[in-house]
Amino acid sequence: MTRFARVESLKSDLGVADLVDLPAPQLAEGEVLARIERIALTTNNMTYAVYGDTLGYWNLFPAEQDGYGCMPAWGFAEIIESRAADVPVGTRVFGYFPIATHLTMRPTKVTARSFVDGAAHRTGTPDVYNLYELQPRDTDPRQDSLTAIYRPLFITSYTAADYLRDRGFFDAEQFVISSASSKTAYGAAYCLADSPAQRIALTSARNIEFVEGLGHYTATHEYADLKAIDSTRRTVYVDLSGDGDLRRRVHEHFGDRLAFDCLIGSTRADGFPEDDDSLVGPAPVFFFAALQLDAYKAEGQSRAFMQRYRRDERDFLEQVGGTEQPSIKLLEHAGLADAPTVIAGFHDGSTDPAVGHIFIPDAD
Ligand SMILES: NC(=O)c1ccc[n+]([C@@H]2O[C@H](COP(=O)([O-])OP(=O)(O)OC[C@H]3O[C@@H](n4cnc5c(N)ncnc54)[C@H](OP(=O)(O)O)[C@@H]3O)[C@@H](O)[C@H]2O)c1
Repeated sequence: MTRFARVESLKSDLGVADLVDLPAPQLAEGEVLARIERIALTTNNMTYAVYGDTLGYWNLFPAEQDGYGCMPAWGFAEIIESRAADVPVGTRVFGYFPIATHLTMRPTKVTARSFVDGAAHRTGTPDVYNLYELQPRDTDPRQDSLTAIYRPLFITSYTAADYLRDRGFFDAEQFVISSASSKTAYGAAYCLADSPAQRIALTSARNIEFVEGLGHYTATHEYADLKAIDSTRRTVYVDLSGDGDLRRRVHEHFGDRLAFDCLIGSTRADGFPEDDDSLVGPAPVFFFAALQLDAYKAEGQSRAFMQRYRRDERDFLEQVGGTEQPSIKLLEHAGLADAPTVIAGFHDGSTDPAVGHIFIPDAD
């Protein structure tokens, strides 16, 4: 018998998640039922939860239990029931899902390439989160896993590098990149390789070896050794950690040589960073990839952007996920039973950056 289940996170303690059984959905006219085939979980998903109230992520997939929210995840699904004439059974899509076996959607703006879930509660977040791109059938499962993991992360690395490049890299002589072991960080280092500036990694002591092995950085330091980095060089801080204490130390160390603080991630923070008037140097500027993509769309540049992005993503995935010395070991979980443990690992920081977690929700 088909099981309908979903993982829900306790908002007051994001290290706690429950697997909840749900009744079989009854479709209304205009709705479709998607069976979620394959989704990925990385620290990025934990940050969606950390920003759940501030940036509206909790609204996308309302939870069943009071005090809980559904952490979103990226992946592939197949339409298995349809009451929407223009989205037939068998349609495959890539997009944003709860960590669940199924999702009921209401397709709108259906084109030959995509549709948008127009469900009433899915408002207040950038468009990319509601867009489902149609996919061919019979794709390579390893390639799909790499796409599920890296698409939302590498598109961030890529657009952030565009953003810095468009501003002449702020004339930086070096980029100092925190949480350098994260996929978004090393994707950014890869994308910034065309700049003359050095790419200096900052990471935890336990992840030094992994980061050095990636080959995307010119030097690697653990957080405690920040002062060993040359503070006379003009520096752009690319912050994936969101760590307030580290930010203060970075600003103090580089002083007036800090040209720009680009805040991208919050791997080591438990909320959206607050303004801090006492900070030395430039205030951090939050870079939000989803808004950058919306801006490309508003300027009519989406298609041109996606063409060059897809080409460069292919090269990147070949390098990090190819069979020769991949940076990632894919770990496939059958069913959702392991999800609470994996989520707890993102929360307490015990996660291994070399592992890519993939869930096949209805495989148990
Ligand atoms: N602004 C945007 O538009 C945007 C878009 C996509 C992603 N992001 C952000 O980029 C960040 C990285 O995401 P990812 O999926 O690439 O990460 P990931 O690959 O899963 O990164 C894992 C690394 O993050 C650090 N980390 C994770 N949890 C931690 C914890 N509880 N305590 C301390 N350190 C922890 C550790 O790195 P170190 O030891 O090296 O510190 C760990 O090795 C996330 O905050 C994500 O939200 C932002």
